[in-house]
Amino acid sequence: MAYYRQVGEVPPKRHIQFRGPAGRLYHEELMGEEGFSSDSALLYHRGVPSAIVASEVWELPDQTTAPNHPLKPRHLRLHDVETSGDAVTGRRLVLGNSDVRIGYVVTGTEPSALYRNATGDECVYVEAGAGTVETVFGTVAYRAGDYVVIPRATTHRWVPSEASRLYAIESNSHIAPPKRYLSRYGQLLEHAPYSERDLHGPETPHLEEGADVDVLVKHRAGGRILGSRMTYATHPFDVVGWDGCLYPYTFNIDDYMPITGKIHQPPPVHQVFEGHRFVVCNFLPRKVDYHPLSVPVPYYHSNVDSDEVMFYVGGDYEARKGSGIGLGSISLHPGGYAHGPQPSAIEASLGAEFFEESAVMVDTFAPLDLGEAALACEDPAYAWTWSRDLP
Ligand SMILES: [Fe+2]
Repeated sequence: MAYYRQVGEVPPKRHIQFRGPAGRLYHEELMGEEGFSSDSALLYHRGVPSAIVASEVWELPDQTTAPNHPLKPRHLRLHDVETSGDAVTGRRLVLGNSDVRIGYVVTGTEPSALYRNATGDECVYVEAGAGTVETVFGTVAYRAGDYVVIPRATTHRWVPSEASRLYAIESNSHIAPPKRYLSRYGQLLEHAPYSERDLHGPETPHLEEGADVDVLVKHRAGGRILGSRMTYATHPFDVVGWDGCLYPYTFNIDDYMPITGKIHQPPPVHQVFEGHRFVVCNFLPRKVDYHPLSVPVPYYHSNVDSDEVMFYVGGDYEARKGSGIGLGSISLHPGGYAHGPQPSAIEASLGAEFFEESAVMVDTFAPLDLGEAALACEDPAYAWTWSRDLP
């Protein structure tokens, strides 16, 4: 996140004495990415941000995966996945590789545990529901259609005001707008499908009092992803002010302005974010191709370096009619396999002027393995649906 923001109180210069009303020094913390050679923020704590009194094992939910073998396209009915627990502890692993993991949870209205992901940034797509995410930087509100982007190691808590369906994209890297949409200094360019006005960060500090406060930490150790429960002497939500270019924010898919064309536009025009060895795209309601002989549904395509994961979140996905795909479905189309519309959808799409469809796509450059939630909700007939629909 390249845009400077200031929230709450900060001193006029960095790294100088800064005291509260009773004369006590605040504790300055520099939170920085890539060895302090990239984006950073300076946070001013009432307490000591390193003061822990205990660290115990936090047993993560089942993280086991199975390879996509024999190789097949997969259809997962995510709405058949039952979850329990909160927005953090209730996540079930759907797909994952060494760069990114996708989890899914349906929450109630109970707040989550305090939590931070030390393996990488999280981008949580809100399929349904609303609430807030309280963080050390302040609070951001969330609603259906939001991506909630939470930088690595940001201590936070989900507080749903409504039951929420959350699709959690957990990276091992940072998640940012695509570089081609950024100026050399990081401003979103005119041809980008969204602008800084669409990104919503915290506006005021969020302060709480407390002693012996637990924080769940997801981290890497021993070549695996493990969990630890760290207990802090004072409440981590003690930041009176901060400034910098590193902070959580939300972006709603309704604020994404789709790029359309006279003939079919390739998938990269739908990209919204990128991480290391994966991208996030969204396919949204839009006018479709306007050449008199255009074919509005996509051509068959072989994305040879990627696995494609589509999560169907709204409308009616024209290209997949007859496949069993519906709202709440995921399709996994792996590298090494060409895919595209159901054959009958091609003729049916001719003359269409508008597609009312919403899907969130994650394309990974390493193959994805199937998490236990995927194995629990797979539609075993999906792989053969194109051949059942031959013209
Ligand atoms: Fe595709």
